[in-house]
This record gives sequence, structure tokens and C-alpha cells, in this order.
Amino acid sequence: MTVAPDAPDLRTDFPITKKMIYMNNGAVAPTPLAVVKATTDFMVKCADEGPDAQATSDYITLLLKELRTRVAHLINCEPEEVVLTQSTTEGINIVANGISWQKGDTIIARGGKHEHPANYLPWLRLSQQRGMVLKELAIDENGFFDLDELEKAARKSRLVTMSHALYNTGAIMPLEEVGRITEENNALFCVDAAQTAGTIRIDVKKIGCHFMAFPGFKWLCGPMGMGILYCSKKAAEMLEPPSIGGESAMVSGNNSSIIAIRGMPHRLQTGFRNYPGAAGLEAALRYILRVGIDNIRSANMKVAEALRQELGRIEGVTLHGPQDVSKRTSIVTFSVPKDPSMIVRKLEEESGTVLAEREVAGGRKIIRAAPHFFNTEAQAATIAAQIKALLLQ
Ligand SMILES: Cc1ncc(COP(=O)(O)O)c(C=O)c1O
Repeated sequence: MTVAPDAPDLRTDFPITKKMIYMNNGAVAPTPLAVVKATTDFMVKCADEGPDAQATSDYITLLLKELRTRVAHLINCEPEEVVLTQSTTEGINIVANGISWQKGDTIIARGGKHEHPANYLPWLRLSQQRGMVLKELAIDENGFFDLDELEKAARKSRLVTMSHALYNTGAIMPLEEVGRITEENNALFCVDAAQTAGTIRIDVKKIGCHFMAFPGFKWLCGPMGMGILYCSKKAAEMLEPPSIGGESAMVSGNNSSIIAIRGMPHRLQTGFRNYPGAAGLEAALRYILRVGIDNIRSANMKVAEALRQELGRIEGVTLHGPQDVSKRTSIVTFSVPKDPSMIVRKLEEESGTVLAEREVAGGRKIIRAAPHFFNTEAQAATIAAQIKALLLQ
């Protein structure tokens, strides 16, 4: 069952909405009270019943099962394909460092240094230290690339990596087309879904990717330091575990030199996990799935469109990102004729409005607003008025 996203009770789940305008959800989103409660309840349970008592241990097993099932619903995968990480960055590094590369293997990255650093630096390092070839696809001002160029480059490539939506312009990449190209060319496909998990529909089967990394603490509204790596069962076999220990492997039989590595998802996770964080992320996923991704998408886009319209009326403000609304997320990126970092700082200091400064292709500094379903069109109008006033100062 879904909940209407504009129902006022949803905003009461986010105490921050009473105090300030927080529209920096593309960086870290606030958690709803249900997440605060789930994390605290977990800690209280450990303190009351013993963190390593059998009852707590059984509870953790169940909790992780629930968490994996909810991620499976979110992205249409199997629960065993869900690996717990601390962030998108960690997930991408598990992939980049886990594949048994051959010298000269080609990796294709969209936009090179215009990808998010989390999805560029691990591949750049491979090319610099291990002799892989990093092919960087040319991009236009919104971050789109030419599918024909990809098609040609993919013929000789081992892996293609790409953001689902871009952190700076919000442009949504044509992942299903990319998945078709990688499949036809027998290449691996790695997706950075940091800016889409929790804000638009994701179906890893339709996309045809082998790996997808995302955080729990942006659009999913979970606790900081929790992330997910989706790794298809088949592709998991290709990854050397990043670390090894009691939870992921064991010494097998009488011959103590044989190490038996467990199956998915354990093979890619070692040691105790951040279980309080897992309790929070499980509650966040329950919350987000109950609100409904389609409801979230339409609520977010309403605020984004209101903000674009209001900003578009201010002299000197330039909006970035694709014109076609179906090709962008709720991220609203714009430049101003004054120092953007000064504007972002003053907005927070003087009005309690939180946006972010980022940059677009070509190095131009921009301001980024990233509205989520608890933001409102009225807040969009207020932000525009605040910016107009700062530009007139
Ligand atoms: C597209 C993209 N990828 C990766 C990251 C890094 O995410 P994390 O903090 O989960 O490593 C971000 C953070 O803003 C991002 O926008």
C-alpha cells in the first residue's frame, strides 16, 4: 500500500522540516523518526539482552534477511545478491579491486573526470598502477554521451562503468541501452546508483548490469555509513573477496592450507557488520517502499519543477540540466552571477536553507538543490526569493 506523498503526516516524520529548508538530499538526507527509533531500539536491545546473546544473534540474522529482502524489492534482484557496504565508494572499490584484470584490459568510463570521483578514481588508479586502459567517453554539457561511440569502444572492452543519474546535472543515463551494448560485447557493466536509489525506479534485471553500488543515506534516508553493493550471482564468482575472515571463509577439512570461501553474500563481507546501521537502513527501506518510489518520484519532480520555474524568473540565473523532464531527477542545478559558495554559505547562515555547491562539465561552479518528498513547492518559492535577495545585495 502506498501513502500519498503530499500527506502532511509524512513531513512530521522529519523534524527538520519544522526548523529549516533542507534541500541537500543528494549529499545526505535526513532520516525519518522511524529510522532513529529502529537504530536506538537495536542499541537498547543489545544493552538489555546482551549483544552476543543467542536471542540477539537470532534477531540479527532475521534483521539482515529482512534488509536483503527489502533491497531485493527495491532493485529487483535476489536477496543473496545484496552485499552490505558502508558506501557507494566502497562498493565500487570492491568491484574495481576484485576483478582479475589482464594487462591491457579496457575499462570505459563516462566523462572521465566528470564522473563522480567515487566512480572515476578507482578506475584511474587501475590504469595508472596496473596497466589497464581507461577509455573516457566524451560528454555534452548535460553529461550525456554518444551511444555510437560507446558501441564502438565496447567491442574491445572488459567493463563499462557509469552513474545512473549524474550528481551535478541530475541527467538520467540510458542504462538499458548500455546494458544491451555490454551484453552484446560480453563486457561487464557496473552502475553507480548513488543518485537514483530511493528516488526513481531501478530494475537491475532490465538494466542488465552485473554490479550496482549505492548508499543508504542519500535518497533512501537511512543512517550514514551504510551502503549496498548489488552483485549478480554469476558476476560474484569473478570477484576476489576484498578481505577474508571468520564470517566469509574457513579452513576446510584436515588440510589446513585449504581455504573455503563461502557463497554470496558472505564471500564479499568479512567480520561483524554495522548492525545498528543495518537496523536503521532496514527501517528506512520499509519507509521508502511504503511511501512508494513512483509517489516519491512525482512528489520530488513537482518541487523540482516549481523551483526551476521560480529560479528561471530571476535575472542572471542560468538553469542547467536536460530540458526533457523525463531525462532528469529532481536535482536542480543553476549558476548565478555571484560566487556560488558565498551564496550557499549565506543561505545557510542567514536563512537556515541548505543547498550545495558542485561543478558541471567545463569546471563551472554551480549551486545544486536536491528536493525530496518532504520538501514543498512553497519551500521552492522561498528559496528562489532568498536567492533573489542575495543577488540584489
Ligand atoms: C554519483 C555519486 N557517486 C558516488 C558518490 C559517493 O557516495 P558515497 O558517499 O556513498 O561513497 C556520490 C556522492 O555524492 C555521488 O553523487
